[in-house]
Amino acid sequence: MEILTCKDYSAMSQKAAEIIASQIKSKPDSALGLATGSTPIKMYDQLVEMHKDSLIDFSQIKTFNLDEYCELPQSNPQSYYYFMEENFFRKVNLKKEQIYIPNGVAEDLELECVNYDNLIDSSGGIDLQVLGIGNNSHIGFNEPKDYFEKNTHITQLDESTLEANARFFDDNIEAVPKKAITMGIGSIFKSKKIMLLASGESKAKAIYNTLYGKITPTVPSSILNLHPNVIIILDEKAASLLDEQDFKRV
Ligand code: F6R
Repeated sequence: MEILTCKDYSAMSQKAAEIIASQIKSKPDSALGLATGSTPIKMYDQLVEMHKDSLIDFSQIKTFNLDEYCELPQSNPQSYYYFMEENFFRKVNLKKEQIYIPNGVAEDLELECVNYDNLIDSSGGIDLQVLGIGNNSHIGFNEPKDYFEKNTHITQLDESTLEANARFFDDNIEAVPKKAITMGIGSIFKSKKIMLLASGESKAKAIYNTLYGKITPTVPSSILNLHPNVIIILDEKAASLLDEQDFKRV
């Protein structure tokens, strides 16, 4: 595992965008696993800028998003599909056929979960998976529980996740969907490389627990210690509880 600390959110985002760019350069038809939330927004901005400057070409890639709220159609501005369109997809050369996001309003959600994992597998697997991390250490929407959920599944969101995400719903916790469809830990683990991003003081404890605590499903991100190819990119505040010798400043 490689742990890099950048001076601030901007530098962290730039570094993450550079890693995606070099992935696509070395394999133009890469499959990227993508995350939503506040953390990767600036990384997407940087990728859009690189694209405008003709430094990156998305024409051959495929994207698979980690998760989607149940009950929100793609047209809902709070859906993750909408988020991805607004922040990234429509701003670069990506066509609809290249984009995969679990469908949170599928008639048969269980089938949607099975199909999503099959889709990822049959397209050759994810080359680089981008992750954020919840204050409660969730990755994707794999919430703390007493076992690791392997496959894409429907999950009940934790109270702390509903609270954290209420900011996207006019601070109205009641409006946040209670369920989501998410890649499982096994689905994430099949990725050839994983890049986890964390920014800000509110993530410092989750990062500390990920790196220094036990590997346990009550800290879902702790499982990343077992993956052979993980890079964690932090800003100073997210790294604030780590020992200086445990990361590299870039
Ligand atoms: C989003 C996702 C979540 C977020 C996490 C952090 O697709 O899977 O795990 O990465 O909740 O969210 P932010 O970045 O908003 O703090």
